[in-house]
Amino acid sequence: MIQICDHKLLIFLLLIMSVLACETTEILTFTGYEGGKVEIRCPYESGYEEKNKYLCRGECPVLNKDIPVESGSPAKDRRFSVTDNRTTHIFTVTITDLRTEDQGKYWCSVRTGLGKSNVYTEINLEIKPVSVVSRVTGEHLNITCHYNSDLKNKIKFTCKGSDPSLCKTSGIKASSETNSNGRFSLRDDESAGVFTVTITDLTLKDSGIYWCGAVETGQKNKWISVTDLNINNG
Ligand SMILES: *[C@@H]1O[C@H](CO)[C@@H](O)[C@H](O)[C@H]1NC(C)=O
Ligand SMILES: *[C@@H]1O[C@H](CO)[C@@H](O)[C@H](O)[C@H]1NC(C)=O
Repeated sequence: MIQICDHKLLIFLLLIMSVLACETTEILTFTGYEGGKVEIRCPYESGYEEKNKYLCRGECPVLNKDIPVESGSPAKDRRFSVTDNRTTHIFTVTITDLRTEDQGKYWCSVRTGLGKSNVYTEINLEIKPVSVVSRVTGEHLNITCHYNSDLKNKIKFTCKGSDPSLCKTSGIKASSETNSNGRFSLRDDESAGVFTVTITDLTLKDSGIYWCGAVETGQKNKWISVTDLNINNG
């Protein structure tokens, strides 16, 4: 049992606690693909329900902010929209028709009012290029996913769906742990830095967006590549 009556020890503990507090404010990363859409969810503290929420692009300097969308006024860029859920304290910025140049740094911001500085949360937006693949029903398909050596020993997986954040809960088709799931199988060639997802007996319902990913430390998903699969009647 440690007795905290020593001033130095107390200050030391407070320092450690503040360092830990800083480390928990991580940058939120969202991932989309070219031509797709992304929903950036921005949590905010209660008390700001009535305040305007906006997205700031780039470095977001004090003067000359680049604000593609703000609640309560029409968006400067029609691809951007914002909704505010005042019950859950999350506002959501949706960007449609994504382009590679949308990749980069953004800030979720709350306009707190005159004389107070606004509240900012840093966002990193990643845009993946998409390969379009067409096949006919009954065929087999190999999707190859090339990855960097830092993902060598990680679990690889593929999942279907336009929003990769939903892949955690649904649509996981195969991973290098299970290796196969029905018509889906996955082979990881670590020496070549590539894993292959095979889908046999393609059906029309297999059309859609497929993500190749790896599980990073802390159960976070790292997205590697995106395939847009179109199946036509054979
Ligand atoms: C806010 O989120 C909750 C929980 O997801 C949902 O039930 C509610 O309908 C949402 N409200 C609005 C206005 O979207
Ligand atoms: C998929 O890959 C496997 C193993 O490399 C190969 O045997 C098979 O012919 C490939 N199938 C197609 C349709 O390319």
